[in-house]
Amino acid sequence: MDLSRDLGDELDDLSAQGGPIEGEVAGGAIPGGVPPVRRIVVGEEAPPIRMADRVGPIVEDGIGSDPDFSEPDPEEAFWVEERMRTEALSVSFGSKVAVREVSLQVNQGEVLALIGPSGCGKTTLLRSLNLLVDLTPTAIRSGRITLDGEDIDDFDETHLRKRVGMLFQQPNPFPMSIFDNVAYGLRERGTKRPKKKELEPIVVQSLQRAGLWDEVGDNLDHPALSLSGGQQQRLCIARSLAVSPEVLLLDEPCSALDPISTTIIEETIVELSSDIAIVIVTHNLQQAERIADKVAFMYLGDLVEYGPAGKVFASPLAERTKDYVRGDFG
Ligand SMILES: Nc1ncnc2c1ncn2[C@@H]1O[C@H](COP(=O)(O)OP(=O)(O)O)[C@@H](O)[C@H]1O
Ligand SMILES: [Mg+2]
Repeated sequence: MDLSRDLGDELDDLSAQGGPIEGEVAGGAIPGGVPPVRRIVVGEEAPPIRMADRVGPIVEDGIGSDPDFSEPDPEEAFWVEERMRTEALSVSFGSKVAVREVSLQVNQGEVLALIGPSGCGKTTLLRSLNLLVDLTPTAIRSGRITLDGEDIDDFDETHLRKRVGMLFQQPNPFPMSIFDNVAYGLRERGTKRPKKKELEPIVVQSLQRAGLWDEVGDNLDHPALSLSGGQQQRLCIARSLAVSPEVLLLDEPCSALDPISTTIIEETIVELSSDIAIVIVTHNLQQAERIADKVAFMYLGDLVEYGPAGKVFASPLAERTKDYVRGDFG
């Protein structure tokens, strides 16, 4: 498939927080002969019901049903602040269904990991959350996505993408200095170009939060492209942070990095998650175990299982999830 047609538009639209999109051509091996699983399972041993869980994929008798939007019982609910939610989100490319009626929520203070084999719709789901998927001409999206209760289709896309930042598999710094990379989105913002001095505190703070300051603080005028891959990815995190995102979408951000850079980025993600809701696609189950609060397991476009990470890994309910977390396929 040819994704290059999207690139110009995406570049324009993402310049503030993401830059060029890596040309990920999705798809790949799906184990043959295995029928799709449509069940969304929450079992008898489900953890205490939270507000957020009440509006998620609640099922009875293990058979998928519509989300339950009833008010929680104040006795049993404790509040989790929901930032984003998908309700029966489906995305097709032409006749190919990539995401099928997925309902889940993204909560403040949590890392949600999307896991599942290649081609099962993780990237498509992620790209729906900031409407990037709409830039693909063949994409058809249905269902509803909200940010703080508001339908994201009612947002200005550029504004939405500042609130919901995104990071890609391949680090994509711009060919300019470290400082200018981080300041990029801030300069784009207003009609009046802010002075370097005014931007400096935000640039410094963003680099600190991205865990890069100690390594580059003395060399802000150095070209970003002279940094190592792991540093470049943290620079891209800093560039996203500079425009104060409320949700950060990370599509396999460590898959091109060495183990040390991966560890630093994982630590950074966990720290950021205290004030930014994070959704991360990862192929690396150990990574999901290390950093995720919630896990969503997708298979062939369906959300098979969604729940607290410890539970999904230690005692998954669906057979398919069991097989996947045991490493039987994927
Ligand atoms: N731009 C596109 N055009 C056509 N099909 C696509 C496009 N993007 C993704 N797909 C298809 O949608 C399905 C899900 O892809 P993707 O979301 O990238 O999966 P994952 O991230 O889980 O590997 C795959 O079958 C893939 O081939
Ligand atoms: Mg993907």
